[in-house]
Amino acid sequence: MTVKMDNRLSPGKNDERGFAIWLTGLSGAGKTTISIPLGKRLIEMGFRVQILDGDVVRKKLTRDLGFTKEDRDKNIERVTFVAELMVRHGIIVICAFISPYKAERRYAREEIGRFTEVFVKCPLDVCESRDVKGLYAKARAGEIKHFTGIDDPYEIPENPEIVVDTSMMTLDDEVDKIIDYVQKYGYIKET
Ligand code: ADX
Repeated sequence: MTVKMDNRLSPGKNDERGFAIWLTGLSGAGKTTISIPLGKRLIEMGFRVQILDGDVVRKKLTRDLGFTKEDRDKNIERVTFVAELMVRHGIIVICAFISPYKAERRYAREEIGRFTEVFVKCPLDVCESRDVKGLYAKARAGEIKHFTGIDDPYEIPENPEIVVDTSMMTLDDEVDKIIDYVQKYGYIKET
């Protein structure tokens, strides 16, 4: 444990068990689907875990925001602030956000420090054919503007620590790949 004092909300001990797993990818790529069993596995291993998911966070912390670049940036900045505080208190924070802009993902990485980026990769046509929430159909019909992958950009991660291709892999294999990585790189001790 190292002591880090500053003027943020809760100065004090920096519990080094905390880190962030940042899932980025298109809507429907599988970020939420991965976050739940991943969180469960980590809880079973004895860790404290918090999931921050775009669809949930946007109903509370960032419900005033839309999907312009400016609003998406604010969304990620607020989430990063909260995630950093939890990480510092020893919590494993799983963040599931489209987070389409490289600069904002880099900002999250720099602010949080202990950070593993997972590119939840899935071709647009597969996400669109899944269309779990019916949003791609609405975006194609012009009923939703600024929809990622349709009329809004997604900047593909250049150097993510992990890539999981959800059009090719099973959910179990995806979760295993992430757990294996965080074990190998010392974020969690082998069990
Ligand atoms: S982010 O771009 O700011 O990171 P976030 O992950 O919080 O996005 O929210 C994405 C979710 O909002 C999608 O999964 C989808 O359910 C919903 N959504 C509504 N409108 C849009 C849109 N224009 N673009 C992308 N997602 C949208």
